[in-house]
Amino acid sequence: MNKKRIVTGDRPTGRLHIGHYFGSLKNRVKMQESGDYDPYILVADVQALTDNFNNPEKVRKNVREVVMDYLSVGIDPKKTTIYIQSMIPETAELTVFYSNLVTIARLERNPTVKTEIAQKREVFGESVTYGFLGYPVSQAADITVMDGKVIPVGEDQLPLIEQCREIVRKFNSIYGEVLTEPEAVLSKEKRVRGLDGNEKMGKSLGNAIYLSDSEEEVNKKVMSAVTDPGRIKKDDPGNPDICMVSYYHKLFSEEEACKTICKECRAGERGCVGCKKELAKMINATLEPIRERRKYYEEHPELVDEILRKGTEKARETAKETMKKVKKAMMLDYFE
Ligand code: TRP
Repeated sequence: MNKKRIVTGDRPTGRLHIGHYFGSLKNRVKMQESGDYDPYILVADVQALTDNFNNPEKVRKNVREVVMDYLSVGIDPKKTTIYIQSMIPETAELTVFYSNLVTIARLERNPTVKTEIAQKREVFGESVTYGFLGYPVSQAADITVMDGKVIPVGEDQLPLIEQCREIVRKFNSIYGEVLTEPEAVLSKEKRVRGLDGNEKMGKSLGNAIYLSDSEEEVNKKVMSAVTDPGRIKKDDPGNPDICMVSYYHKLFSEEEACKTICKECRAGERGCVGCKKELAKMINATLEPIRERRKYYEEHPELVDEILRKGTEKARETAKETMKKVKKAMMLDYFE
């Protein structure tokens, strides 16, 4: 016993892609299977609404898509508690209490928020909403209301965990030692680049391979991947260092095979079309069992609902316990 509570989650704004798979999902399954942790995964619908408030259908639809993606990669609801953020009202309550402990200037300085605001000009124009600026406060509540100790994150999320730790310290210094400071565990995986060579794979960039893509879709997408533009004829020597096909081979093919691929490419002994076909085969081999499991849940939506209902119920119990302590510490425990 005494397993360390993990809290992670994703905004349900689209289905999950191979960037998520290598960046976080594989690691979540590994941590789940290690037996050392008590993992909680929240589907962050409230956070998704901070920049999609005008598109509730999109958020609603993607909650189940994301959960099916989790289940299809091997997140096991018997070992991991999967729940819906908006169904934990205690989180919203705690967010309000925390908002007194954070200055507006500090939020405006948060590098993650700053970057995102710059990227979301089309949503916010020149002035950002209170809700979006404050989402790190709500994320701090997500983590601490579930008593999260270990938060596996990519580099871009580190400032959010740092801000959470600051809030916890401030809370404890004023109201007493009630909350635990969570620890960020930086994932070793690098961000997976897009088919077009962009640093980021993403829905809005149209350069992603989804876990739920069919074999045909994968084949088509791989054919569109950017290769060495200097290579015109099949036997021109190529540069695999600037080729997305070689880049993905490193994720999906064995190390030895990759060495041969690069060698043949540099020597002009390997055509791009054949190389892409081989890559598509490797990707499809990885995705096939994932697709199969997904299909099962697509055909049994009542199971997905049941998993979410149970997970949410359990998470809610945890949240209630935390709020009892929080309210007592804040002298808000009126009729107990
Ligand atoms: N910010 C995360 C993302 O954009 C989602 C998230 C919300 C989260 N609450 C969290 C992650 C709590 C870890 C812990 O993907």
